[in-house]
Amino acid sequence: MTGQVRGVQLARLLGQWHALPSRRRSPDYAALAGTVRGLLADGRLPLGVRLPAERELAEALRISRTTVTAAYRQLRETGHLASRRGAGSWTMLPGNHRVASTGLWTPLDDREMLDLGVAALAAPPQLLTAARAATEDLPRYLGGAGYHPTGIIELREAVADAYAARGLPTSADQIMVTSGTQHALDLVLRLALAPGGSVLVESPTYPNALAALAGRRARITTHGLAADGWEPDLLLGSLRQTRPKLAYLIPEFQNPTGHLMPASLRERVVAAAHAVGTDLVIDESFVDLPLDGTQLPPPVGVYDRHSRVISIGGMSKPYWGGLRIGWVRASAPQVQRLAAVRVGVDMASPVLDQLVAVHLLADADAIVAERRVQLAVQRDALLGALAQRLPDWRVTVPRGGVTLWAELDGPVSSALARAAEEVGVRLAPGPRFGLDGTMERFLRLPFTLPAADLVEAVGRIAAVRYDLDRTGRQRWREPAVIA
Ligand SMILES: Cc1ncc(COP(=O)(O)O)c(C=O)c1O
Repeated sequence: MTGQVRGVQLARLLGQWHALPSRRRSPDYAALAGTVRGLLADGRLPLGVRLPAERELAEALRISRTTVTAAYRQLRETGHLASRRGAGSWTMLPGNHRVASTGLWTPLDDREMLDLGVAALAAPPQLLTAARAATEDLPRYLGGAGYHPTGIIELREAVADAYAARGLPTSADQIMVTSGTQHALDLVLRLALAPGGSVLVESPTYPNALAALAGRRARITTHGLAADGWEPDLLLGSLRQTRPKLAYLIPEFQNPTGHLMPASLRERVVAAAHAVGTDLVIDESFVDLPLDGTQLPPPVGVYDRHSRVISIGGMSKPYWGGLRIGWVRASAPQVQRLAAVRVGVDMASPVLDQLVAVHLLADADAIVAERRVQLAVQRDALLGALAQRLPDWRVTVPRGGVTLWAELDGPVSSALARAAEEVGVRLAPGPRFGLDGTMERFLRLPFTLPAADLVEAVGRIAAVRYDLDRTGRQRWREPAVIA
């Protein structure tokens, strides 16, 4: 949603604003303004959007216009709304702060630090065996120059077969091998998005995708995810209203929230995207990692009749990030165009690494089954430790992927990350997953470390959370804006 939010859309976002527990005996206008501030702080309502005219919102909420007028006045006074006569009112943060969410984000080499900033597993034991087998295969390739811009045929066939097994018939010429999913995204953006083009993303979303979009100077608009995931009417409404050139979505165990997009919405999103001329970039990084026997809906590409869907994925989450193998699935002509773009970037991916990937994929069933068991155990250890040490935090149990998105007991995410670093825990605070410095009440917690490390990390986090309150300084009570 961006540009403008309509009365019915805002009414839907506001939900039960008049009956919220925090309301106590405050007047209607104050409750309304408070709920709008909450939506802004959580990133559900983006900054810089035009709110509906007072009369339109009053009609949508079935309340008096004076109540809306008073609420808007209070939002102006607290610095959450800017108005200009005749032009309307826009959302903002006090002091007009905006936070750059990009920045270098790499795993630490500090072995003492419990790193919860990176959501990725250590390599599986089968990796060494696959690497040894790959060196045996290498002589077959040594007679050629070794440049394969779309990837070696064996790997493209293995990836195509995996799509077919998920119900999406795919030929090897629809696959391009890349150096990781991030590289796949960057190449797709180079091909499909002119500098300054418009892109719709989920909020919260994967920070390095935002970094790639910033690299194209994309004009980003957001769809704020609710506690239970995508809001179909709002998402489709945003597509129709803003008609972005691209939409970047993570339908399987979304990073960071862990949500799984239902089949019905997948179908509707593809239809809406086609109707408005939007290309969909579907990031399937976590598709191999359903937990608890969760059944996956069909891949988004199944609903695509017009080459609107470009899927990207890779081996980092189920196998190992250090392998740097990812891919794009698109139409064969699109793959050829991507290869032409790629020649101007890095020519091709390393042959030896691709051979390692071929061996790992040949053993996919066994490796991935072990990963799922490992992740379910670690997730449950994390949930158990949170329930015990931080019982006021609210978490939805993710049915797959590698992260959970915790709602904290206050807007302290950045402050907590700073304090946790002091006690040897690295955290990725909520604002890293948004555009505006909002989402201070949220924290992403990956369950990719061994269970004992996760329990230890939660113990340390709980201790510093307690200290934040005991210091009692004003700066922890206000939503912390990082400039
Ligand atoms: C949604 C999403 N996309 C892409 C990536 C990057 O993956 P890769 O290591 O394959 O480049 C990640 C890694 O965390 C991710 O979570």
